[in-house]
This record gives sequence, C-alpha cells and structure tokens, in this order.
Amino acid sequence: MSEEHHAALITGVAKPLQVGSVPTIQPMQGEVLIRNYAIAVQPLDAKMLLGSYSGAGSLHSFPAVFGSSGAGVVEKLGAGVTSLAFGDRVVFDTRAYTKADANRREGTWQQLVICDAATVAKIGEIAFEQAVLIDFPLQTAVAALHLFLGMGKPGNAGVEEKVLVWGSGGAVGSYAVQYAKSVGYTVVVTASVRDADRQKGLGASDVIDYKAADAVERLRELGPYKYLFTGSGDPVSQKALSSLLQPEGGKFASVLGGDMELPTNIERVYRPFSQAAQSEENGDFRAWWYGEYLPNVLQNNLVDPVKFTKRGGGLAALQQASADVFEGKVRGKIIINPQE
Ligand SMILES: NC(=O)c1ccc[n+]([C@@H]2O[C@H](COP(=O)([O-])OP(=O)(O)OC[C@H]3O[C@@H](n4cnc5c(N)ncnc54)[C@H](OP(=O)(O)O)[C@@H]3O)[C@@H](O)[C@H]2O)c1
Repeated sequence: MSEEHHAALITGVAKPLQVGSVPTIQPMQGEVLIRNYAIAVQPLDAKMLLGSYSGAGSLHSFPAVFGSSGAGVVEKLGAGVTSLAFGDRVVFDTRAYTKADANRREGTWQQLVICDAATVAKIGEIAFEQAVLIDFPLQTAVAALHLFLGMGKPGNAGVEEKVLVWGSGGAVGSYAVQYAKSVGYTVVVTASVRDADRQKGLGASDVIDYKAADAVERLRELGPYKYLFTGSGDPVSQKALSSLLQPEGGKFASVLGGDMELPTNIERVYRPFSQAAQSEENGDFRAWWYGEYLPNVLQNNLVDPVKFTKRGGGLAALQQASADVFEGKVRGKIIINPQE
C-alpha cells in the first residue's frame, strides 16, 4: 500500500482549506522528504489563503498546498543528497509560492514535505518552534538589506554610518534591526511606544514613535542613513522614507509595494525577499544562508526571536489562525504542529 499523510488542501482562490489524506511524494534527485513539526503562519500565507494576494491564483494549479517554511526531521533522501542525513533536525523553505506544480505539492501545510536539499538548514538541538520563528522573516530582512540593498555581512565592527528601520515592531522589522546591528551599524527605528524597551534591547540606538506627528522631522535630525528599510511597507512609511532621502534622492527597501506616487529621484526596492533563496540567480546567497549563516544564528542563539503562541488542532487550525493574522489580531507568530 502506498504511503499517505495529511495535508491542508486549498481547492481554489479564497476557498477554505480542507484537511485530508494525500499520497506521499517520494524525493527525486537533490530533494529530501521532511516530517514537519512546526509551521509559523506568516502574513503572506494569510493573504494567499484568504485571496487578497494578487498572485494567489496565478501561482498555483489547485488543489494546492500553501506554506513556504517549516521545521522537522529528515525522513528520506533523494539521489545525490550528501549534505543531509536521515534524522537530521532541520528548518527549510520550499517553492510553494514560486513554482506552480500541483503534482509535487511542495507547501509546508502538510505532515511530510518535499524540499530541495539546497534550501534546508541544520538546527542542531534547538526547538522546531524557535527555528521556524526565525527563518522566514529573518530571510526577508537579510535578503532586503544584504542582497538587494548591498549591506555587508556581520562582523564589520566599527561601521560609522546609520541604518533606519521603519516599523520595527513586527518579525521582519525586529530581525532587520538585529541584522544591521550585527553588521556593525547604528540602527535608528520607528516602532510603537509600548515596544521601545524591546527595540533598545535588540540594538536600536533611538526609537521614534511611528505615529508621532513629528516622526520624520526627528528622524531627519538623527540621520543621514546609509540604508533605509520599511518593515511595515505601508504608504505612510514609504512616503516618510522618500522624504528623508531628499533632496539628493536614493533608494529604500520595502516589504510591500503599492501604487502610491513617489518622487522620481526615489527607487523603491520591493521584491519577494522571503523567496530570495529559491531563485537560481541567488545561488551564492542560498548557499551562505542555509550552509553557514542560518545554522550559525540558530545554533548559537544570535537572534532574539519574536514571541509566539502555540495553537493546537493541527492542520485544521490553519484556517482560523490565518484569519486572525489577516485581521491583525496576532502579536508575534502563531505556531502549529501538523502532526497533531
Ligand atoms: N516582500 C516580502 O518578501 C515580505 C516578506 C515577509 C513579510 N512581508 C510583509 O511584511 C509585513 C510585515 O510582516 P511581519 O512578518 O513582520 O509581520 P508581523 O510580525 O505580523 O508584524 C506586525 C507588526 O508590525 C507593526 N506594524 C503594523 N502596521 C504598522 C504600520 N503601519 N507602521 C509601523 N508598524 C506597523 C505592528 O507592531 P506594533 O503594534 O508594535 O507597532 C504589528 O504588530 C507584512 O505585510 C508581510 O506581508 C513581505
């Protein structure tokens, strides 16, 4: 009898997910099969499931399995995989949001996940929850700052310049602060007032309330900034960063796009940063991320993770969890164990 496992299947754009049995796909050359013990629900997942993301329909043939990262244990190795072994504890990212191939169902919203061995990092003994809390949003922040804006790698002690992270309260923003600090920059942030102490603990030199009427003015006094990033990506933040770059102009990275008008001397760098390592053209970044940087960060506790809430109920809990994330009801991340 062929092997089966449970998956949360999406049958069409904005359709509710259905949990059911699916045949387990066997790993091909260069792939591994991973038993998945932790999913962190990301805003992207919620937007995909609830149909508000414009790519939701075009990316997939249905039924599809969403979810692009997970943490678990290597169960089977495809031909040619030498970097991993049966039983390795890992965190991993899949092509769920970059490759439309319904037959291979590469999403992490299932118990056994097929994954390219090149996008798997070993995590040693740390908890699956901790690994999955960090990987996706940290990759977003590091890809934006390092790969797309050109910031260096950690260890350049003595960098004199400043970095601005707008909206550092979320996971991406919190990790952007810590990355920029680890590279050696002085990091100025905007966050909510209640989060100021945590931001200082993460390494921010100055915390400005992003709701304050004089936020841009105060940021201008603290600048200039070598790198500018908005971890909230909203129009207010994009306009603020554009204003801070005047009169010379320049570029900033944003987690979200949008069609607001920005001055012609401004370049907004908006990409699917979270999927950067899935792209062949970023092969060097991918090798560094999974082979060196991420295992080092996780195994040596170099990043303070955001808060999380564990939600019971296994895959069936994903629908409500996504709705809660979509409606902004969740601080930190919701984590679900697909084996429950
Ligand atoms: N382009 C990409 O590759 C990519 C990748 C990952 C995420 N994203 C997008 O980035 C955004 C953040 O993701 P995340 O994982 O960091 O979310 P998250 O952890 O859920 O962060 C939400 C927090 O951001 C802060 N925030 C919300 N609206 C804000 C605003 N208008 N101005 C300033 N801060 C605001 C709030 O913190 P306080 O209440 O403390 O202020 C809120 O609790 C999402 O929209 C997501 O879709 C894009």
